[in-house]
Amino acid sequence: MRLHDRTFLLLGGTGGIGKALVESLSHSGARVVVASRQPEGLIPVSGVSSVQLDLAALDLEQQLERLSDAYPDIDGVIHCAGQNVFASLGNQPVSAIDDQLMVNLRSAMLVARHFSPRFEKAGYGALVFVGSTFGSIGFPGYTTYCATKFGLRGFSEALRRELADTPVQVIYVAPRATATAMNPEAVNELNRALGNTMDAPDAVAGQILRAMERDERRRFLGWPEKLFVVINGILPRIVDKAMLKQLPVIRRFLNTGVLS
Ligand SMILES: NC(=O)c1ccc[n+]([C@@H]2O[C@H](COP(=O)([O-])OP(=O)(O)OC[C@H]3O[C@@H](n4cnc5c(N)ncnc54)[C@H](OP(=O)(O)O)[C@@H]3O)[C@@H](O)[C@H]2O)c1
Repeated sequence: MRLHDRTFLLLGGTGGIGKALVESLSHSGARVVVASRQPEGLIPVSGVSSVQLDLAALDLEQQLERLSDAYPDIDGVIHCAGQNVFASLGNQPVSAIDDQLMVNLRSAMLVARHFSPRFEKAGYGALVFVGSTFGSIGFPGYTTYCATKFGLRGFSEALRRELADTPVQVIYVAPRATATAMNPEAVNELNRALGNTMDAPDAVAGQILRAMERDERRRFLGWPEKLFVVINGILPRIVDKAMLKQLPVIRRFLNTGVLS
C-alpha cells in the first residue's frame, strides 16, 4: 500500500513503537489519527490529529462508530496498542488478564469487523496488526500475553484468508523485544541476562512500514528469533529444553514488578 497522501488510524500511537510510527508515517507524507485513552496530552503536529478511544471498553463498537463519523476517510488502521504483565499466572491480577485480552485481542477483532466492510466498499484499505515473537513462542511469565498474541496471529491469518478475494490487505508484524516503556526494568535486566537483543522503536516502526509498502502478509523481526519461531513450530521439544535451562534465570526476575 502507498503511504503518501493516505490517512491511517494508529492505535497505540502514544506508545514507544507508536510514536516512532507517527514520525515515520508523517515523514512518508501520510496523515495520522492517533487514538489514545488520554489524547489531551498529545502535542499538536501538522498532519496528525488525535481521538479518544479506550480499547478495553465494552462499548468499543459504539466508540468506533463515532470515530468513523468524525473521520470518514481512513485508509488503513495500524493496531499497535498493547498491554502486558510479566508475572507467573497466579500472580497476575484477574483485571490484568481481562485488560490484556480486551486490548490485545478483542479490540483487534472489533476494529477489523468495523473497518473491513468500509475498506471493501472503498476498494482498498489495510489492517495492520502488531503482534510479537511471543505470538509464536510461549514464554514463562507471559502466559496471558502469549495467549493474546497467539490469538492475534491466528485471527490475522484467518481474516487474511477470509478477505483474500477482496481489496482489503491484512498484515501481521511480529517484533521481538523492543526498548519501550512496555518493559519494566526487571524485563530489561532479564533480556540482558539471557543475551536477548532489544530493538530500537524507530527500527521496528521502519519494518512495519516496509511490510505495508511491500504488501506483505506477515513479517517476523529479529535474528535468531525468527529461526526460533520456525523451530518452535516444528520441534517444540527443542525449545522446551532450552527454556528449562533458562528457567532459573527467568524466575530471578519473575514477579518483581507485579501489579497490586
Ligand atoms: N516493547 C516490546 O518489547 C514489544 C515486543 C513485541 C511486540 N510489542 C507490541 O508492540 C505494540 C506496541 O508496544 P509498545 O512497546 O510501543 O507499548 P507501549 O510503549 O507500552 O505503548 C502501549 C500503547 O498501547 C496503548 N493502549 C494500552 N491500553 C489501551 C487501551 N485500553 N485503549 C487504548 N490504547 C491503549 C497506549 O495508549 P494510551 O496509554 O495513550 O491509551 C500506548 O499507546 C504492542 O502491541 C506490543 O504488544 C512490543
